[in-house]
Amino acid sequence: MDLDKHKAISLLNKIMELELAGVVRYTHYSLMVYGYSRIPVVEWLKTQAEEGLLHAHKAGEMVTLLGGYPSLSIGPLLETHLHDLGDILRESLANESEALAAYYQLLELTQGKSVLLEDYARSLIVQEEMHADDVNKMLRRTGKTGVYEPPKQH
Ligand SMILES: [Fe+2]
Repeated sequence: MDLDKHKAISLLNKIMELELAGVVRYTHYSLMVYGYSRIPVVEWLKTQAEEGLLHAHKAGEMVTLLGGYPSLSIGPLLETHLHDLGDILRESLANESEALAAYYQLLELTQGKSVLLEDYARSLIVQEEMHADDVNKMLRRTGKTGVYEPPKQH
């Protein structure tokens, strides 16, 4: 069966919107960190914003490759007004897992139908999972190696 281009374009646009929301979110966070660890943390957050923009651009390139129209919207931006570093990281982990789910959906849709899109989805999944691991490790307590588990959402 052929690739459902329409579905692929709408998924890619969703990914683009989520990544763009990440750009705004990380830029905001990078301005809201104070205290001893400010300098390296701000640097890290700014790098995440730049990476999000690269990811958004890549998704847009795939949209236009398929002949689609790239979204001019941006994903949801929830402002929790919590700016403790732990809160920022937990919020970012939750948002990133939404983007990761979208990349997995794209992989499922394109598997065996488009080497290009399948490869793209896989490589982004690897990057996003490595990123989630960075955040997860920052949320662990020193001396403990167990994986951080986010609290269950109701
Ligand atoms: Fe990303």
